[in-house]
Amino acid sequence: MVDYTPSSRAVLRRSPDKRQDDETRFLKNWLKNPLRIGAVTPSGPVLARKMASHVDPNGTGPVIELGPGTGPMTAALVDRGVDPSRLVLVEYSPDFCRLLRDRFPKATVVQGDAYSLKKTLAGLLPAPADALVSGLPLMTRPEPLRLRLVQEAFDLLKPGAPFIQFTYSVVSPVPLKSANFSAEPSERIWRNIPPARVWVYRRGS
Ligand SMILES: C[S@@+](CC[C@H](N)C(=O)[O-])C[C@H]1O[C@@H](n2cnc3c(N)ncnc32)[C@H](O)[C@@H]1O
Repeated sequence: MVDYTPSSRAVLRRSPDKRQDDETRFLKNWLKNPLRIGAVTPSGPVLARKMASHVDPNGTGPVIELGPGTGPMTAALVDRGVDPSRLVLVEYSPDFCRLLRDRFPKATVVQGDAYSLKKTLAGLLPAPADALVSGLPLMTRPEPLRLRLVQEAFDLLKPGAPFIQFTYSVVSPVPLKSANFSAEPSERIWRNIPPARVWVYRRGS
């Protein structure tokens, strides 16, 4: 039985007013740093559910989320049945971190840089993670940095566990030349602004 807190329920079933609050907050953050935020509006529920569908709700290990923003993917994970106490959320914006702590009080919210993942999560993971969900705008960063992030992430995941990433791009946001991991794209998800695709990367399955 999933323990929904009233605040995480509120994210899942939020009113149009609340949704607009999130959109305004998101836009304000985007105006401050467009490259870091990488989108003008939070992801929609169809994309969020698709991302969450790759995470096993019955696992017991940590589930890492990078760049949760206002929490649409986080809410979809909880809705899927992932225990919020398994969630480790890494977010750069202090403003989003405050919101996430309020909405997901059982999750571990880490204010820090996802691109220095091992350093940012040092001592915080009780076991190798079962999955990683990323909403980072990878395409705004140079290829070597993206590759380093993915390799660092695989070192924190169980062998074969998914690194789940969405992108608005037509190509894989993680460079695939000389990759030592598998990569599987979804169909294009049109019911999102803008339309997106989900990629699942796995190493050592
Ligand atoms: C495209 S938004 C996605 C937000 C949310 N996951 C969604 O789908 O609506 C990117 C998010 O990544 C965060 N972010 C960007 N660079 C980051 C970094 N280096 N470390 C941690 N979070 C970062 C931004 O603050 C923002 O919340």
